[in-house]
Amino acid sequence: MKIKKKIQQARTLMDALPYIRKFNKKTVVIKYGGSAQADPALKEKFAQDIVLLYLVGIKPVIIHGGGKKISNLLDKLEFKSEFVDGLRVTSQSVMEVVEMVLGGNINKEITNLLNYHGAKAIGITGKDASFIEAKALDEGKYGLVGDITKIDHKVVEDLIAQDFIPVIAPIASGGTNHPGFNINADLAASKVAVALRAEKIIFLTDTPGLLDSDAKLISTLEKEEILELKNSGVISGGMIPKTDACFNALEEGVGSAHIIDGRVEHSILLELFTKDGIGTKIK
Ligand SMILES: Nc1ncnc2c1ncn2[C@@H]1O[C@H](COP(=O)(O)OP(=O)(O)OP(=O)(O)O)[C@@H](O)[C@H]1O
Ligand SMILES: [Mg+2]
Repeated sequence: MKIKKKIQQARTLMDALPYIRKFNKKTVVIKYGGSAQADPALKEKFAQDIVLLYLVGIKPVIIHGGGKKISNLLDKLEFKSEFVDGLRVTSQSVMEVVEMVLGGNINKEITNLLNYHGAKAIGITGKDASFIEAKALDEGKYGLVGDITKIDHKVVEDLIAQDFIPVIAPIASGGTNHPGFNINADLAASKVAVALRAEKIIFLTDTPGLLDSDAKLISTLEKEEILELKNSGVISGGMIPKTDACFNALEEGVGSAHIIDGRVEHSILLELFTKDGIGTKIK
């Protein structure tokens, strides 16, 4: 390799230094959307990004979704499920599938991938040590969709203190003999970020960020503007719980919230280690 190229590589590393210093020992919660998990090559890059954060002293915590995989299995089994207000209405049998896909398949896949790339990741659901408890959201309007009532942050903090990367499936305990609750992953991520007093929350999804009525990217947005965009229908479907989650996280003390494109390779590094970041920043 030519010396010039080597120097350029060193400069690229140095460009990241101020950010590495800024986020050193800080907790960053990353919501890994099901929509961003489609491509195997991108999954590898996601895992590499997370392991890099971990090895430079940032404390990543992963919460994943899995909407599309759940829908695929439900279709195969010919179980009906519908979305209301961006949330999956969850019957008992749908809950079984949700737990299989989220707590089993996807959770272990992400955990395995991170471990393969050199981290120590542990996959859990809110049922483990009952660290997430919930009750039915809106008096059961959406079936077993849960509203988190309690998070035992110590369980996650202990894992972080032992240098594990927690990989959390958004399922909550509903008590003994209860099938558990399906929690929207965006809302679970924001509650976990608040409980851990995270520096940042990042949502990886399948759009460039939050788009306006002309489908143009909104780079920055005040959290108060969310309501307006919801009322005018610009924010719809899966973006409703996501922007609600950003709002809640910021309201309760998380430093910043970002919605970024999980289909862009190394999008997490671009967000964390460049001046302008990518996607939408909500202030
Ligand atoms: N204003 C908007 N800007 C961008 N996307 C929007 C907007 N309004 C609605 N959406 C929809 O929100 C979707 C993202 O939410 P979705 O729930 O599908 O993905 P996810 O949360 O990343 O995945 P999962 O729910 O599986 O974890 C986009 O693909 C888009 O269709
Ligand atoms: Mg979603």
